[in-house]
Amino acid sequence: MSNNTAITPESYPMKGGDSTYSYAKNSSFQKSATNIAKSMIDEAITDYLDIKDFSSASLNNKFHIADLGCSVGPNTFISMQNILEAVQQKYQSQLGDQYPHKFPDFQIFFNDHVSNDFNTLFSSLPPERQYFAVGVPGSFHGRLFPNSSLHFVQSSYAVHWLSNLPEELLDKNSPAWNGGRIHYINADDEVGKAYVAQFAKDMASFLDARAKEIMVGGMMVLIMPSTPNDVPHSRIPSGVMFDLLGSSLMDMAKEELISEAQVDSFNLPLYAASPKEMTELINQNGFFSIVRMELNNLFSCIDSQTTGKSCTMHLRAALEGIIVKHFGSKVIDEVFHRLYEKTQEFSERLESSYKEGTQLVLVLKRKLK
Ligand SMILES: C[S@@+](CC[C@H](N)C(=O)[O-])C[C@H]1O[C@@H](n2cnc3c(N)ncnc32)[C@H](O)[C@@H]1O
Repeated sequence: MSNNTAITPESYPMKGGDSTYSYAKNSSFQKSATNIAKSMIDEAITDYLDIKDFSSASLNNKFHIADLGCSVGPNTFISMQNILEAVQQKYQSQLGDQYPHKFPDFQIFFNDHVSNDFNTLFSSLPPERQYFAVGVPGSFHGRLFPNSSLHFVQSSYAVHWLSNLPEELLDKNSPAWNGGRIHYINADDEVGKAYVAQFAKDMASFLDARAKEIMVGGMMVLIMPSTPNDVPHSRIPSGVMFDLLGSSLMDMAKEELISEAQVDSFNLPLYAASPKEMTELINQNGFFSIVRMELNNLFSCIDSQTTGKSCTMHLRAALEGIIVKHFGSKVIDEVFHRLYEKTQEFSERLESSYKEGTQLVLVLKRKLK
């Protein structure tokens, strides 16, 4: 059992490999997210990517795409292939007679934390791929690429992970102390404010780094869980799931399977920003214009009969690592068994949370400031 309650690890890899609880086998929600966003990304590339924006030196017959927070696949391969095809079509339409002589070589950079299971990622690279694949380890909250070296960047279901938890959540003397809860859902306002401030800080460093790395005229797509403007966080699907996970852990603490102090010192490093918050943060950075922004309903295409089970499996693939690190591996099956039972008990609450569109797709273009 971990006694490291004060320091939060800053990397939270998804469960690697391809076992029952792996991310590779439990990421169909994120795959649906990619499918839903595809037509919007295709249109944005057709309408807003202009090869003439790039200097010939920066193009030099190559096109650089990066996926930030790629995890282990297969979703990253699907979305990178979609983007590559849309860019190829754009080249074809803009090059006219010069096509295919001036077609670029595509290089795709797969980025994630150092602790990501890059072996699984690289051993499942599509054999027929039309690009050169490169692994880029490290946090996207800092610099990862040389100045003005990227033409297109995507980050899907990754920027909502905080780089660190606000320290005051663990300080019993702070109004933001979050005893008995594991997230800002249904917590005191001060807890919510601490999360908001951490997300704003992280997004500022993310955008600063990308503003340097993406060349003028380049584009970036962010796909992320979001809370619609003026809707309480407790009414969105991830909010309901985190609340149920917190109450499962508290039940286990009452039965002394884990300690209450352990629950008090555990918080999820995740934040679902609203479109309004994202707009403000992007405007504060000042290097990107928002060319498209949409909230989609990811759950409109998911079978409600299986949602309790699927939501539990998806959450396990994402959170098993940090839960094991904090509570130990012996309780992990019990935690998720209880969570599943709660999804059945509160199925109406979970299902009613699917009514709002909570997937934000943002298409940005790097401009001259
Ligand atoms: C839910 S997975 C999404 C994976 C993939 N993009 C998809 O849509 O299926 C989130 C990924 O983001 C990565 N991640 C979170 N914070 C990161 C950071 N600061 N730098 C790099 N990767 C990060 C995690 O390690 C994880 O692999």
